[in-house]
Amino acid sequence: MQNDSTNNRPRHVAIIMDGNGRWAKAHGLPRIEGHRRGAQAVQRSLEAARDLGLQYLTLYAFSVENWNRPKEEVQALMELLDQFLKDQLKHMLKHKIRLRVLGRYHELPKHIQDRLRDTEARTADFTDFTVGLALNYGSRTEVVDAARAIAKAAQAGTLDPDNLDYAQFRDFLYTGDMPDPDLVIRTSGESRLSNFLLLQSAYSEIHFSQVLWPDFDRASFEAALDDYAQRERRYGKTSEQLQPPES
Ligand code: IPE
Ligand code: IPE
Ligand code: MG
Repeated sequence: MQNDSTNNRPRHVAIIMDGNGRWAKAHGLPRIEGHRRGAQAVQRSLEAARDLGLQYLTLYAFSVENWNRPKEEVQALMELLDQFLKDQLKHMLKHKIRLRVLGRYHELPKHIQDRLRDTEARTADFTDFTVGLALNYGSRTEVVDAARAIAKAAQAGTLDPDNLDYAQFRDFLYTGDMPDPDLVIRTSGESRLSNFLLLQSAYSEIHFSQVLWPDFDRASFEAALDDYAQRERRYGKTSEQLQPPES
C-alpha cells in the first residue's frame, strides 16, 4: 500500500513508547507505577491521534526482548495490558476504533490472547481509525515468520518464488494490511529503533522526543507532527523533482 499523506499530515504514526522506568525513578516510585502512568498516556494518545485526523496509530507496547526483564515486571506488564484491554473495549466500540495486533500471539498468556482475538474480531469492520498494538513484537521475528509462511506457500504451489517481489512479500508481514508508517516517534531521548518496524520504516520520518512516555501529551504529539510537516520526503529523488511544474 502506498503512503499518502495529505497536507503534510501523516496518515500513520508509530510510537516507541519509552521511558516509563525512568519516569518512575525520577518520581521515587516503583517501575510498575511508571507503566501504569504509561497506560494513561496511551489513552491520551489514542484520543489525540483521532482528533488530529490520523488513520493509523501503531504503539510498541512489548518487544520480544522485553521477556528478559525481571519476572515481576513482565507479570505486572501483562496484568496492566489485560486491564487496559478490558477498559478499552467499550471505548473502541463506541468510537469505532479497529484493533490490529502485531506480534507473536501464541506466546502471550492465554487469557490475553483470548481478549485480543475477541477485541480484534469485534472491531474488525471499523475503517476510519486503526490502532496497531505491537505485542511480543520484533522485526526480525516478523521477517522470519514471513519467510516461513512464504516457504510454505511456495511448497504448496500457491506462490512462485521467481516472481516474488516486495509488494507480495510485505503481505506476509504482520502489518500486511496496513500502510507503512509515515512518522515514527520515540520518546525518552533514546535514538534507536530497538527492533521496531525496521522494514516498514524504510522511508519513515523519525522524531526523537525528549519527553518520557508517561508525560507524553497532546502538545508533545503536536510538536512531533509539526516537525514532520517540515520534512521533505524524497524517496531517492532530488528535491527539484518533487516541485510541481510551473504553470
Ligand atoms: C517503556 O518504558 C515500556 C516498555 C518497554 C514495556 P521502559 O520500561 O523501557 O522505561 P525505561 O527505558 O526503563 O525508562
Ligand atoms: C523498546 O523499548 C520496546 C518498547 C517500547 C515496547 P526498550 O526500553 O525495551 O528498548 P531498549 O532496550 O532501551 O532498546
Ligand atoms: Mg526503555
